[in-house]
Amino acid sequence: MTPHIRALAGQIAETVLMPGDPLRARWAAETFLDAPELVNDVRGMLGFTGTWRGNRVTIHGSGMGMPSLSIYANELISRYGARTLIRIGSCGAMQSHVAMRDVILAQTASSISTPSAGIFRDLNFAPCADFGLLRAAVDAAERHGTRAHVGGIYSSDVFYDERPDLNETLTRHGILGVEMEAAELYSVAARHGCRALAVLTVSDHLLTQEALPPEERQSNFRDMVEIALESAFA
Ligand code: ADE
Repeated sequence: MTPHIRALAGQIAETVLMPGDPLRARWAAETFLDAPELVNDVRGMLGFTGTWRGNRVTIHGSGMGMPSLSIYANELISRYGARTLIRIGSCGAMQSHVAMRDVILAQTASSISTPSAGIFRDLNFAPCADFGLLRAAVDAAERHGTRAHVGGIYSSDVFYDERPDLNETLTRHGILGVEMEAAELYSVAARHGCRALAVLTVSDHLLTQEALPPEERQSNFRDMVEIALESAFA
């Protein structure tokens, strides 16, 4: 047990999918895993372990934002032996060629700061996805007929951003979308020699101001979970 996870040793799989929302973790576990077992509910953060095509998988919420994700990723890796961590979540698009419902496979994740900044100090570390996972995710998206984009994203500390100049700079530098967790996931994974990837569905568009209604997010989520699972065990 850890301060935030009540699972016993051995109850967490080496492969962990991490949606931000704990209820999405429940939905994904009940939809995709055989014999899903609840292994965590501390502070309402749900985690389930089951099997997918015979492979053990844990689906555990990360919460919103890098400090929250950092707690769970650190504990899952150092206390439970997680080795492959795939974020499944939503993002806001920052390019005109990226459409609503498209998938973004985050090759890199820029940020102003992450919880790992205290370790890196003056080093401008470049958090990046595991190449094998990324390549497998591209193949999986192709098989699903999902429009997927590979490139850099921005991991923000704020959802209600008051800096339009920063968004403009990010768009000008080809950043595909914005979310709030991947840069820390990639940094923690790198520190522990683990594999990490973020598979993101576009739920809103910063250039057009479009936004998906909540009920539509579920069906897009299905594609993401399948792409993530197929990538983890490719
Ligand atoms: N997640 C989904 N849309 C987002 C946005 N516009 N900003 C930050 N995180 C997001």
